[in-house]
Amino acid sequence: MRTIGIANHKGGVGKTTTAVNLAAGLARAGFRTLLVDVDAQAHATFWFAEDPADIDFDLQDVISNGVPIEKAILNTRIQGLDLLPATLALAPLETELVSMTRREDRIARALADVETSYDFAVLDLPPSLSLVTLAALAAATDVIAPVSATKLAVGGLGAFLSWTDDFRGEGVITAPLLGILVTMVDSRTRVSREVLDALRDSDLPLFEAAIPRRVAAEDQVGGRLVVGDDEANPDLAAAYQAFVNEVIARMGVTRG
Ligand SMILES: Nc1ncnc2c1ncn2[C@@H]1O[C@H](COP(=O)(O)OP(=O)(O)O)[C@@H](O)[C@H]1O
Ligand SMILES: [Mg+2]
Repeated sequence: MRTIGIANHKGGVGKTTTAVNLAAGLARAGFRTLLVDVDAQAHATFWFAEDPADIDFDLQDVISNGVPIEKAILNTRIQGLDLLPATLALAPLETELVSMTRREDRIARALADVETSYDFAVLDLPPSLSLVTLAALAAATDVIAPVSATKLAVGGLGAFLSWTDDFRGEGVITAPLLGILVTMVDSRTRVSREVLDALRDSDLPLFEAAIPRRVAAEDQVGGRLVVGDDEANPDLAAAYQAFVNEVIARMGVTRG
């Protein structure tokens, strides 16, 4: 199993939208995929849980309460895609981790039980530089950082990358940065073009695919639409499909 952490400590940069589309795209490409919602806001969960009232357990139960991970995992409407959901109960995990031994290993150890059941796990991370984020990044074999095409987001990206590099230096994070995905690109605005050009001129591993800013993105949330759905916005779907294809190519995996 390859475990992809979708991470950036800044909120609102497209992490969750990217995680749900990547997970759906990988499943639809034939890979057995587990989407893991590591954010107590539970937005990724909302996308795929048929009825949130049906959720009995989440990652916090697995890590803190000894619930077997298989009991927490739900099927989704997409064949080959399962969900380890989040609920508000995930919020105390941060403080619970503090008093645990080998706290950075806890998410990796939870996922180890389904290591052979999936080709990919896609982790939707919270917008924080926290223990939960660190434990999720420590579980990852690859990291993808979405960044919105705004000056502030790009400024914050450097801080995030150097934070992860510190933990790579300590051996806590071993996953390389697979790539940076630029989201919410508005090609009509100068700032968007400038940001994209600056990133392309940098030596950061940018994905060639970039996600356009579309008002329809909000409807996709309400309609719970992802790449591959007939009703999905064609521009967003095409951009996310190109991104999924690049991820598959960069990881050098063959279709399941
Ligand atoms: N390409 C896009 N164009 C316009 N709005 C977007 C786009 N992608 C995401 N959004 C919206 O921006 C907000 C933040 O996106 P989200 O994926 O939740 O980011 P994060 O998980 O980093 O907080 C959401 O309301 C989402 O619907
Ligand atoms: Mg999010």
